[in-house]
Amino acid sequence: MKRLYCNVAAVAVCLLTATMDGRSQTGDALVVKANEIKSPIQPTMWGIFFEDINMGADGGLYAELVKNRSFEFQRPMMGWKVLGKPKTEGDFLVENRRPNPLNAGNPRFLHVTLHEATKGSIGLNNEGFKGMGIKNGLRYDFSISYRQPAPNIKMWVELVKANGESLGSGQLATTATGDNWKKATVSFRATATEPKASLNIWFEGDGAIDLDMISLFPEDTWKNRPGGMRADMIQLLADMKPGFIRFPGGCIVEGFDLSQRYQWKKTIGPLEERELVINRWNFEFAHRPSPDYFQTFGLGFFEYFQLAEDIGAEPLPILNCGMACQFNTAEVVPLDQLDPYVQDALDLIEFANGDTGTKWGKRRADMGHPAPFNLKMMGVGNENWGPQYLERLRIFTKAIKSKYPDFKLVNSSGTDPNGDRFDYLNKELRGMKADIIDEHYYRRPEWFLQNAARYDNYDPNGSKIFAGEYAAQSDRTVSVNNKNNWQTAIAEAAFMTGMERNAGVVVMASYAPLFANAEGWQWTPDLIWVDNLRSYGTPNYYVQKLFSTNKGTHVVPVLRNNETIAGKDSLYASAAIDKATNEVILKIVNASGKAQSHAVQISGAKKLPSNARLSVLTANPADVNSFASPTQVAPTDTQISLKGNQLSLSLEPYSLNVVRIKMM
Ligand code: AHR
Repeated sequence: MKRLYCNVAAVAVCLLTATMDGRSQTGDALVVKANEIKSPIQPTMWGIFFEDINMGADGGLYAELVKNRSFEFQRPMMGWKVLGKPKTEGDFLVENRRPNPLNAGNPRFLHVTLHEATKGSIGLNNEGFKGMGIKNGLRYDFSISYRQPAPNIKMWVELVKANGESLGSGQLATTATGDNWKKATVSFRATATEPKASLNIWFEGDGAIDLDMISLFPEDTWKNRPGGMRADMIQLLADMKPGFIRFPGGCIVEGFDLSQRYQWKKTIGPLEERELVINRWNFEFAHRPSPDYFQTFGLGFFEYFQLAEDIGAEPLPILNCGMACQFNTAEVVPLDQLDPYVQDALDLIEFANGDTGTKWGKRRADMGHPAPFNLKMMGVGNENWGPQYLERLRIFTKAIKSKYPDFKLVNSSGTDPNGDRFDYLNKELRGMKADIIDEHYYRRPEWFLQNAARYDNYDPNGSKIFAGEYAAQSDRTVSVNNKNNWQTAIAEAAFMTGMERNAGVVVMASYAPLFANAEGWQWTPDLIWVDNLRSYGTPNYYVQKLFSTNKGTHVVPVLRNNETIAGKDSLYASAAIDKATNEVILKIVNASGKAQSHAVQISGAKKLPSNARLSVLTANPADVNSFASPTQVAPTDTQISLKGNQLSLSLEPYSLNVVRIKMM
């Protein structure tokens, strides 16, 4: 698409054009009142929503390459294959020691019996999550827990292509004997790049050996942490400079039933003690079955807090409120048995913030982080509704606020931004003086355009709003045909100008869901798409990033004919100043298919420079990004000219325009 803007030399012509072509008369000028502060913009304003959906954690952000590493999937050998022919029945036997409470988190292991096996004759293969993405020259770190009565067995590991070609291998030293589990490790470098590799483990010798916690990680994890996260995916998040990170969901918080709810205490400490749970997205959609989707919790609450700290985002955990997903079983905990749930919330605050002399503060310190994580807020419930929610919420609120009066609580307003359930909760929560109400909207792009003024009439003195999950749906919610196209992204941008204009009310917002594996997704659209080796941001990602990295600190008015700009002539705008950098930041969306030229006046600024920065994001409505063209829809930056306090903007059809002007 041809870009139209006024460079320094052409500014006079542009201004002239703007008045001569009849598209932006003087009366139509956009006026930014840089010295009329309306409200602060919270540093948390634009954040991210993380849920283990679409292989977001296991097989995604969590860089473990071995699927079903401890044989705890419902089908214990899922992902594994025996190589060669076992001599007798039961040579590869899954044993379960569940009665032993010491192994409650990891009851199963594999008991292997070998009969004079020669190298290459018998072994195990792990297929990985949709294969394993392997990079040439990179080091791979393999580890395994084992125990054996005698040191009679040798083991080799190798990465292979689908045709069996080796991509690198190493031999394990498994010499320890006795009843106690030992860990063996070996590292080796890959000799080629391969998106669909798998792992072989070969045995040699005679006798028996028990195996568990079989693991393979690449060396290039985020911050090179052993057993860490995929760096390319986190980098995309860090680049957004998010104000907060909401975790761990989403419906995953609620669980299909209460037994499958997210319990943060089961996600910290030694990996082998983190009890696996089936992922509720494993079976949620009959049209997107994901039978191999489980939560190992290698990415658990400690790692979430650490991630938040790494990327400079405020942590926002959402906890189960004693209710399972109301679309599924709708199980509730009797009110007189809610205590453990409430205690989990109180303990989480202590885990995050308590000093190292406290029980949970010590657990945090033992995991390597003696300093507090400085947790300031928490959500009670996700998408819960009805009086049953309020009954439970009241109990949580009383307990948390009486111990931590300044702690902020996010309350659910259900699944939809309107309707009886929303109206009921909205009224009741405001009556309860809720700190922050979590609104969710998965709607068509038109809804976003039509509702850009949604928050203009919200009470600025009432409960604050967290737009905790939103995304424009090019087809309809949960349709497999939804696309992350520019039509959806620009509608979100238009809506976001309305959120920013009302930053006194809306204190946080996050697009949802965040990640999707191109081969393993359940829900679309999603902000970032990945495969085993690659990741790219959608047009929606670049909208989020433009807003987040051009946030400003205070809202100021931008008016046209003295009115807010929220849809007339398909224009949407918001403005802010950044007190830290002394800049005016203007965001304008032209959601129409026609170019528009507009004069912009900046009033209330002492002196302005002759140049400003313009970032433009524009495309055709159907355009998308892809692995092949990851930045087909991405912003371009340029300089534009100012004359005094005026500039002329030529807004391309279907464009988001962000202008930054330094005040001198
Ligand atoms: O983002 C996907 C799902 O949509 C979330 O888990 C849930 O909260 C919402 O319904």
